[in-house]
Amino acid sequence: MPARVSAPRVVNIADLRRLAERRLPRVAFDYVDGGAEDERTLRENCRAFEAVTFRPRCAVATETCDLRTTVLGVPLQLPFLLAPIGSTRLFYPLGEVHAARAAGAAGTAYILSTLSGTRLEDVKAAASGPVWYQLYLVGGHDVARAAIARAKSAGFSALVVTIDTPVSGLRERDVRNGVRELASRRLWTMLPYLPQLLARPRWLAGFLADGGLMKFPNVVLPGIGPMPYADVGAALEKSVVAWHDLRWIRDAWQGPIVVKGIHTGDDARRAIDEGADAIVVSNHGGRQLDGVPPTLRVLPEVMAAVGSRIDVLMDGGIRRGSDIVKAMCLGARAVLVGRAYAYGLGAAGEAGVTRAIEILRTDLIRTLKLLGCRSVADLDQSFVDMPADWLKPTPHPALR
Ligand code: GLV
Repeated sequence: MPARVSAPRVVNIADLRRLAERRLPRVAFDYVDGGAEDERTLRENCRAFEAVTFRPRCAVATETCDLRTTVLGVPLQLPFLLAPIGSTRLFYPLGEVHAARAAGAAGTAYILSTLSGTRLEDVKAAASGPVWYQLYLVGGHDVARAAIARAKSAGFSALVVTIDTPVSGLRERDVRNGVRELASRRLWTMLPYLPQLLARPRWLAGFLADGGLMKFPNVVLPGIGPMPYADVGAALEKSVVAWHDLRWIRDAWQGPIVVKGIHTGDDARRAIDEGADAIVVSNHGGRQLDGVPPTLRVLPEVMAAVGSRIDVLMDGGIRRGSDIVKAMCLGARAVLVGRAYAYGLGAAGEAGVTRAIEILRTDLIRTLKLLGCRSVADLDQSFVDMPADWLKPTPHPALR
């Protein structure tokens, strides 16, 4: 492990975040670090983990700890997957390839965003573990169908349909940092926002050597080719998914579908009714509707609604292995980590992602040993206390 991401310089994910902030221009760092509006949900996603406390079983010898889980029937060495993140190539040249490679080397899965800067075939070729494709309908149904066909023939093993983006959340940091203007490719419009890029010459050299502002090679527009970079907000506005879309998506994909963006027990049940094979309890990392509850808080409601009928994953606010353990105690089969590895990528490329994974992995083992639990498969609610009002009744039959 290179010294720049080893202890004592990097002990936890917050250290990687600090290094990423130092290496990246503000516009790139804030894109991944920030959330919508007042960033209440962003903060609460992390804070919710503080409300859940452990009930360890002491004097239990656990020499080895088993971190393996299965998701969609596929065994993973770790109970966390790398979440889809748009524009990853802004953080590091060929960012998606590095992240996919690090995930595979650690024995877990990587989820590629539609809004990525690398061809999905190249990402699949780099990954030694499972890769899933996250679908936005940007460009329209035919464009999405073509991407689905490519993902299928490239060997992606699940399709993740994100359902919480009928419009982009207002990410105020992006507005202030000139994301839209920088994507305009008009020098005069870009000019006021260029100093932040010049202030990070090492990043800038890598960015330019990587081809500069990327295109979206998995969104191939008829008569145009790969969609030119547009700020993610503008792209999301063209990505509305409705429940009925799941039918044609399922017909086109003919494989496992994961519905990401579940906020309530009702939507969890609806996703099952519409044929989802797994769901992700997610509020898009606090980047969409500010003011929704943290995902950990929603997890008990979702578990009560769906039980063991389906694999339930969650994301949002995970910065430590103990957070993953808490989510699994409340019923998640695995979690998705987004910012935690993106900070590593922004700090030091693939070595940073590998370090982020390693931090979470060693956290998990230590936490299990301290809890007196041999395997993540044995985690359940008996290992935690949570606020009494977290398990509220769910059904709103009128909505069904
Ligand atoms: C893309 O999905 C984003 O949240 O920026």
